[in-house]
Amino acid sequence: MGQGADTVRLAGHPPRDLATVLQGAKRCPVVHTGEGDVVITGHPEVVAAAGDPAVFSSRVSSHLQLPNGLDGEEHARWRALIERYLERGVVDKRGPEFREAARTVIAESLPGPRGEVDAVTDLGTRYAVRAMTTWLGWPRELEGRLVAWVGDNAAATRSGDRARTAAVAADFDRIITAVVEPRLTDDTTAEGDVTRQLITDTNFGRPLHREEIVSVLRNWTGGDLSSMALCIGVILHRLSTDTALQEHLRFGVPQAEFEAIIDEILRLDSPFVSNRRVTTRPVTIGGVDLPEGQRVRLHWTAANLDPAAFGEPGEFRPDTHAAANLVWGTGPHVCPGRALSMVEMRAFLDELLAAAVVRPGSGPGTRATHPVGGWESLPVHLERC
Ligand code: HEM
Repeated sequence: MGQGADTVRLAGHPPRDLATVLQGAKRCPVVHTGEGDVVITGHPEVVAAAGDPAVFSSRVSSHLQLPNGLDGEEHARWRALIERYLERGVVDKRGPEFREAARTVIAESLPGPRGEVDAVTDLGTRYAVRAMTTWLGWPRELEGRLVAWVGDNAAATRSGDRARTAAVAADFDRIITAVVEPRLTDDTTAEGDVTRQLITDTNFGRPLHREEIVSVLRNWTGGDLSSMALCIGVILHRLSTDTALQEHLRFGVPQAEFEAIIDEILRLDSPFVSNRRVTTRPVTIGGVDLPEGQRVRLHWTAANLDPAAFGEPGEFRPDTHAAANLVWGTGPHVCPGRALSMVEMRAFLDELLAAAVVRPGSGPGTRATHPVGGWESLPVHLERC
């Protein structure tokens, strides 16, 4: 028989602070937020919950979320459909286009021989938008609106104001619908246009409905835009303060080593903090009793710093920490966008490190707070090589 959980406030705190509840005299792998939610912070407990969708369901929203908000066979069917677009062999071919996108964004951000830029807003967001529009075949004219949307979305998320978050989400649906609408009837779009491929996808033996197309695109772009921008902030913070690692990457490393390094940088400072679940029946986890219908957060960031899984969780050890790393989640909903993210990040870092040395900027930067991780803004100096 389990018991009640301790209470920890999340609002206003960097998500990494939550890891301290695991390191205290009394280890607390499951905590209450005081706002009705329960947060699972312990590594073994997060892995157990993420791997048990029959009890920890992803049906947390009344909105259509394909495939994120599905369970069981329905989830598996949609998952198989989207994985065809995100397979390594498919996304690897887009590397040269992402390099071109990176070169342009970096050239535009290098104003002089030695310039200071913001790693998240100038580099991360603009590259994330350029790479995503390149991948999906969206018009260049949308980029300004998408960059503004990433900023609005971050501000709305920080505010915790549900009406504001809903308005920003509705704005994004309008952007996606404006892209999808003309393509429903136009069959002249180039073959490489992923959006058009999705619209004409026949793997279910029927055309996808408009709201299904919009939902899939929303989950792809939501994952891509904000996470990519934040990942670039976290990575550039690490490289600007760890010159040996920066030089090592500039020299060039095999892809497998590159990915292990990126995974470990992101584990130490996960920008993609948590995902929601709801219990389908009473369950005891981490010694805490949860009723049916309990809203739960799987906290990847805290679990990624759990001494029970990593021994010395604060140490940078790409090889030894790889197996337990939860940056991309685990279980049936594990991120299908990892290969695409890695191709995009490799293109960006190769181009940036060939063009400039990255050093800490003049100010300390601003940490992001719950529910987002990493940096809200981070000045860095770019010194041309
Ligand atoms: C850039 C860094 C990214 C990080 C750190 C990240 C992280 C994650 C995590 C932790 C999950 C698990 C969610 C859960 O269990 O509920 C997830 C799921 C997902 N991610 Fe990513 N992601 C990233 C990029 C991307 C990209 C580029 C795409 C697609 C273009 C993408 C598409 C998705 C989708 C569709 C799911 C839901 C999968 C499902 O429900 O089966 N992600 N991601």
